[in-house]
Parts: sequence; structure tokens; C-alpha cells
Amino acid sequence: MKIQDILLSEYGKASSVPSAVNRMMTDFAIGFRDGYDINLGVGYVNETTIPTQQILTACEAVLTNPVKYRASLNYGGSQGSSNLIESIKRYHIDNKIGGISQDVFNSNDIVIGANGATSLLDSITHLLPSGNVITADPMYYIYCNDLDRKGFNIIAIPEDNDGIQTDQLRDKLKELGRAKEEIQFFYVVTVNNPSCTVLSNNRKRELVEIVTQLSHELGRKIPLFFDNAYRDLIHDNTVESMESALCYDDLGIVYEIGSMSKILAPGLRIGYMIGPKGDFLNSVIQRTSDIGFSAPLINQEITSYLLDNGIETQIEKVNNGYQRKAKQVKKWIVELLGDNIQEYCGGSAGFYFYITLKDVCTDTTSDFFKFLTRTTGCEQNDGSKDDPYPKVIYIPGEHCVHPTGDMVEIGKYQFRISYGFEELPQIHTALKYMTFAITYSQKCL
Ligand SMILES: Cc1ncc(COP(=O)(O)O)c(C=O)c1O
Repeated sequence: MKIQDILLSEYGKASSVPSAVNRMMTDFAIGFRDGYDINLGVGYVNETTIPTQQILTACEAVLTNPVKYRASLNYGGSQGSSNLIESIKRYHIDNKIGGISQDVFNSNDIVIGANGATSLLDSITHLLPSGNVITADPMYYIYCNDLDRKGFNIIAIPEDNDGIQTDQLRDKLKELGRAKEEIQFFYVVTVNNPSCTVLSNNRKRELVEIVTQLSHELGRKIPLFFDNAYRDLIHDNTVESMESALCYDDLGIVYEIGSMSKILAPGLRIGYMIGPKGDFLNSVIQRTSDIGFSAPLINQEITSYLLDNGIETQIEKVNNGYQRKAKQVKKWIVELLGDNIQEYCGGSAGFYFYITLKDVCTDTTSDFFKFLTRTTGCEQNDGSKDDPYPKVIYIPGEHCVHPTGDMVEIGKYQFRISYGFEELPQIHTALKYMTFAITYSQKCL
């Protein structure tokens, strides 16, 4: 008898095929030539921002102080290390992050994810019923792809320079009518990925008001998750300092998700959620236990030590580095691509620029993309098959905008570049290749 393959769930089936971005990045990674090909696509942090020496010191300090850091190579508790939770509290209070004071922690608690902020975002999808999720467009494509595979329906509201447009959100809610009942949660990235748009405090307040009102209307609390992955990376001093929505949440619907990936090291895999004490937060803790008991305790303790010992200097160092790079890359973008740019954003926070080209498509079938990945099929552009010219990769806008949202058309002309991972000379070279790619695209028209 013929034997059937393993039966997969709907999520299993959807996950058995790598996402378009994963496919693209894998193709690029195969045969990537260090120091030759240029990767402006990855969200990797700059290696020089990782405090290797301090991590070594922290590791030794943790392992040699078993009184404070108990059994740090053993299993941890599922809410997270109490040392780390206290350090995160202190970090927020001492530095007045977002205006958070001790008051906030009287009604809110902190939980540490099993594997970075990503595992907490994943937990949300297992603990809330399936339904509609409201987010900004362009959207954080990695999480939105995850939501999509799990059967959530994403409603993406275009953003402007201040973030998600609240007037459009209000219109959308009106338009939804009874379908509003299907809204399960809001997900808003405070320094958006891909655009690096900083959500203004006014917009944030308005969002809390809108979701509070909606919760009253529906007779149940609708959670509003703010993803603060890049919150501590606002390196433009002219940008207003970001308030925490926890400070003006009267109903108890705001949850803020933070990450140590960008200010310390992604490899520590430390992310946390701050939100109202109660059933939802308890379910997140249980979920962490279900998927791995806790984040590695040693990493939590190392992070606690780093937060207690010089985190401010570390953050300043990281931001100085990205600020310097942002200023230079911005100059080059204007100088080299200026005439062909419709608009661009980024450069004030995080480490991405999100660029819209005039009349030049950027999707994976476009001439622009083919030129940069050396797949035009013409040796003059690509170099020889065995040893092609340097390849350049970026994230095409088509993957960042909602496939049936209002930005789908413009998305075809957009792309995200990262100035995080690669150094300035490589970024300059890549931008020069982009000018050639534009000329090539225009010739092909
Ligand atoms: C918006 C956003 N949220 C979350 C993450 C992931 O954070 P972590 O490394 O803590 O899982 C990223 C990573 O790039 C991100 O861009």
C-alpha cells in the first residue's frame, strides 16, 4: 500500500514552504563572498556594537557569585530571573525610560521571553483567539508573515511621518462595522521596521484612546502591543523623547515588548514584556514554560549584570555609531540616488532607510533587483557565471507592504536597506551599484 506523507496542520502546511524573504535571503547566502558581496538586507546589528569584553566580564561575575546569581547554569523559572526583572525595572526607573516610574510597576509586571522578543510575539498568537490584527503599513514583515501562516487576518493602516495614521484607523473601524467584533489585538512597532518611522507621542496617545474606546464598545479589553525593539536606538537628538504608553493606559490594555538584541547582542536572546498583571500575562508565563522553561538562565543573569553595570555608556556608544553611519549614508543616498527618489524615511532611529524610487520597480522580478543580484543573464552586467561581479541584496518593498492593502502599488517601488551590519565603504559601493541598477532599469523600459 502506498504510504501517505506525514499529515500536517494548516500551520504546518503553511510553514513547510519558506517565506518569500527567507527564500530570497537563503539564495543570497549561498555562495556569499565575504568582503565582496554586500548584504543590506539583514537586520543584523553591527558587530562592533556588541560588548564582547563586558559580556566576558559579566559571565565571570555571574559564575563566581552563586549567592546573587543562584544556579545560573541550571533551569530557570518561567517568568524569568528575578535579578533580571529587577534590573529591567531599575533601568527604566533610573533612566526615566518613557517616563516610567515605580507607579507603573505597581500595577504592571515583567516577563522574560524564552527566546527574545520574537518568542513573546509568537506567544501572543497561541494565547489569543484567531481573528483580525491591526498594524501599520509598511509592516514588520517577519511577524506579519507568522500571523498570516497561523490564520490571523492582518489589517494594515498606512503610516506617515508620525507613524500609523489614526484618522485612517478611525475610518477603517467605522467601515468594519460589525466585523470590529473580530479584532483580537493591535500590534504597533514604535520605531517601525522597515521604515524606522518613530511613532509620535501624540499618535501613541490617540491609539491608546481609540483602542480604549473600542474595548468599551465591544465590552472586552482589546490588547494593544507596542513593539519597542528599536526604542533605545533613537539617535537623532531632534526627535522628541518617546513616552511609554503604560503611563497613560487607564483600562489596562497596553503591553510593551522590549529587546536586548539591538543594544547588547541578539545572541543573548533576551526579550521582555511589560503589562498589566492578570490572566493574559500569566498565560504568557505558562507558554514560556511550555516552549523551553525559560530563556537560558546564564544569559538572563549576564544581561542583568550588564544592565546594572554601565548600560548607559553602552547605549550611548551604540547610538553614536549608528548616528554617524546614518548621517553619512543619508548624504550618499541624496548624492547618488537623489534624482530617482520619490521619498525616503529613516536615519533618525534604528538602522534602516526605506526608499521609494520614481518609476523604478524593486521587486524580485525587476531589472533593478536582477542587476544587483547579477541575474540579468547578460555577462556585461553580471560578470562571469563562475565569478560574478559583487552582488547587493536589500528587502524589496513588495514584502513589507500588506499584499491587499492600500500600499501594494507603491510597495513595488520601495525597498529597505540596512546600515547596521555592513561598514560604510561597503554601503557606499552598494549605493553606487544601485545607481547603475537604476540606469539599467531605465534602459530596459
Ligand atoms: C520590530 C522587531 N521586533 C522584534 C524583533 C526581534 O527581537 P528579538 O531579537 O528580541 O527576538 C526585531 C528584530 O529585528 C524587530 O525588527
